[in-house]
Order: sequence, then C-alpha cells, then structure tokens
Amino acid sequence: MQTSKVKMATQTLTLIMLLLLSTTFHLSTAQNKVKGAYYFPESEFPVTSIKATLFTHLFCAFAALNSTTNKISISSSCSSFTSTIRQSNPSIITLLSIGGGSSNPSTFSSMASQSSSRTSFINSCISTARNNGYYGIDIDWEYPASTTDMKNFCTLITECRAAITKEAQSSGKTPLLLTSAVSATPTLNSPSYPVSCINTNMDFVNIMAYDFDAPSYTPQVTSAHAALYNPSGGVSGSSGITAWTTAGLQASKIVLGLPFYGYAWQLQNPANHGLGAPANGVATATGVGIDTDGSITFIDIKSFNSNSGATTVYNSTYVVNYCYSGNTWIGYDDVDAIGAKVSYVKSKALRGYFAWSVGGDYNWTLSQKASTTLG
Ligand SMILES: *[C@@H]1O[C@H](CO)[C@@H](O)[C@H](O)[C@H]1NC(C)=O
Ligand SMILES: *[C@@H]1O[C@H](CO)[C@@H](O)[C@H](O)[C@H]1NC(C)=O
Ligand SMILES: *[C@@H]1O[C@H](CO)[C@@H](O)[C@H](O)[C@H]1NC(C)=O
Repeated sequence: MQTSKVKMATQTLTLIMLLLLSTTFHLSTAQNKVKGAYYFPESEFPVTSIKATLFTHLFCAFAALNSTTNKISISSSCSSFTSTIRQSNPSIITLLSIGGGSSNPSTFSSMASQSSSRTSFINSCISTARNNGYYGIDIDWEYPASTTDMKNFCTLITECRAAITKEAQSSGKTPLLLTSAVSATPTLNSPSYPVSCINTNMDFVNIMAYDFDAPSYTPQVTSAHAALYNPSGGVSGSSGITAWTTAGLQASKIVLGLPFYGYAWQLQNPANHGLGAPANGVATATGVGIDTDGSITFIDIKSFNSNSGATTVYNSTYVVNYCYSGNTWIGYDDVDAIGAKVSYVKSKALRGYFAWSVGGDYNWTLSQKASTTLG
C-alpha cells in the first residue's frame, strides 16, 4: 500500500512536472522570433554558402506533390539540406516546403478533397520530413481557389496537425512545425482563407507581401511591387497584414515576406523616372540578369547599379528603393526598405520575417540588416 501510494505520488508529481515543462516549452517556442528565408536549389547557390547564423528558420523549396500517389518527393539538395546547414548553425530550424508558385494547384485541390489522398499526403510529408532531419513542414498550395478548396484546406491542416501531434507522442520527438505560405491578404486570389482554422492548426504563416505589380501588368507604369504602404489605395504589405489581423489571425502567427529581388521596367521617357512613370513593359537591357517576367535578383541589381552608374532613390512613402539608368528602371528592396519593413514587424509585434530567396542577397547585406533590425 505504502509503496504504491508513494509510487502514485511520484507519478503525479512527474506528470505535473511534465505538464509544466511542456507548457513552458510551448510558450517559449511560440515566442521564438522568425528570421527566415527560402532556399531554392534552382538558384544554383550552394547550401554551404548560406550564412546560416543570420537566420533562425530556413525553408528548402520545393518538394513536389505527385498527383497519382499523393506522396511528395524531394531533390537531393533538399535531402541533405538540414545536415549541411546545421554544420554552420547547429540550432537552425529547417522546414521542408511543398508545392510553390510553379506547382499545379489542381493537384493540391484534388489531394485535399478526399480523405484517403489527404492521409497519403500527410503521412508522406511527415515521414519525408523526419527521414531528412527537418523540423517542420511548410505547405505552399498556391492557391486554394474556391470555397470548397478553402474548406478542404482547413480539413487538411486540421488532420495534419493531429497526425503531427500523434507522431510526436509516439516518437518522443518535438512535434514538427506546421506552416504555410499564403497570399498578401486573406482574399487576394480567392474566397477567404479559413483564418480561425489557421490560428488553431498552424505555428505561423508566411505572408507573401510582394508581386503586387510587374512590368506586364496594366497600366504599364513603374511601381513598388512590394510596397509596405500604398497611399493610392492598392494592396500593400501593411494593408495585407491589417486585413489578416482584422480577419482574426493572431499577430504572433504572422511572418512578413521580404523580396530579395525587384522588377525592371523600360521607361517610355528616360527623363520621367519617378514612381508611376509610363513604361513599355519589361526592360530590354541584356546581360544584366533580367528574367523574361522582368524580375531581377538583388545581387544582379547591385552589379547593374555599379556598372551602369544608375541613380538610386529611396521612397519612404511606399517603402521602396528604385534605380534608373537610360531607359531601365528597377524597383526593389535595398537596406532602407528592408530596415523599414522589419521595424514595422517589430512595431506590430509580428512573429518575424522571411525572405524569398536567400540566394538573391548581395554579400549578406539584406539578411544582415533584417537580422540586426529585428534584434
Ligand atoms: C508519380 O508517381 C507514379 C507512381 O509511382 C510515377 O509513375 C510517376 O512517374 C510519378 N510522377 C511524377 C511527375 O513524378
Ligand atoms: C514617393 O513617391 C511618390 C510618387 O511619386 C511621391 O508622391 C512621394 O512624395 C514620394 N515620397 C518621398 C518621401 O519622396
Ligand atoms: C562584404 O561585406 C563585408 C562585411 O560586411 C565587407 O567587409 C566586404 O567588403 C564586403 N564585400 C564586398 C565585395 O562588398
């Protein structure tokens, strides 16, 4: 009797201590700031070159979803990502990103619509993440497009959270993180995201606060594609964050996207080179790294500026840097825009920021500025 009472008391005490410990742990992980970035193997930037100490979270992009099996597959760069990056920052949290902007949204739509395919997907995500040393799963379905898709997205993440909890209990490991990259406002490309379902099931979401404009969009005028503020009323980073929080997303679940790239327009008249100047689509300058859609990485913008002697301007009304030389005009985020955006993240007590993508930085200037500003 005596022994079993003592045993019971010990067990109760252990249980209480475990509960306290897990609560404390949960709180402390919930408060971890996010200094994140996506790594994109196609950028041909070696993983070993990443200055990992500037980040807390790195996302390897992207694992592909197979429409027949509803399982995911990863590239060799993503399979060795965690072990490689942990050599330079042993505490970095890596997440495996699935899908992305160039994946087929109908594959996600179809997978999420059936219980059996959701289960295959979720089991494959968890086992692939664990087998390759990841600490989390980042679902980048771009984008759920109908109310049915949004309802199924909620079911998917609810089941995914339950499976993650169950796996952690049986493996004794810390539960995998569950995150998602979502549009700049809850309704930008679609009917509204299921915001309270996201609050309940996601650790945080990456708000893609960029690509609001591009050289092919009409009217063809120079523009801040990732403006933090837009006095003329169009969507901006701050209007997106406000829309998400108004819809009920907790500030502590919001991670703001920072583009490590800009867009290059061709000016109609080189003498008219402000924001909103008439343009003729994508800049025609060759050999400087401008992609067919007009996008250009920060690293290429820096060489363009030094080679062409371009004039550079920071506009704090929109929070954008831009440069022009001849009839080439590029809108982008330099340290000024990055610093102002991360100060905004701090002032709104958001969870943190992420960059797309790490290979676009020049000599770690943007990553360094962001990290120092967040503190
Ligand atoms: C999807 O999986 C099936 C069955 O394993 C395979 O035959 C097919 O090649 C895969 N598709 C892609 C695009 O990898
Ligand atoms: C930013 O650009 C807009 C549009 O040209 C202009 O109205 C505004 O005064 C500029 N802001 C600053 C701080 O220069
Ligand atoms: C890169 O940054 C380091 C330190 O921030 C600086 O000392 C170095 O000169 C920079 N290199 C180039 C090529 O700008």
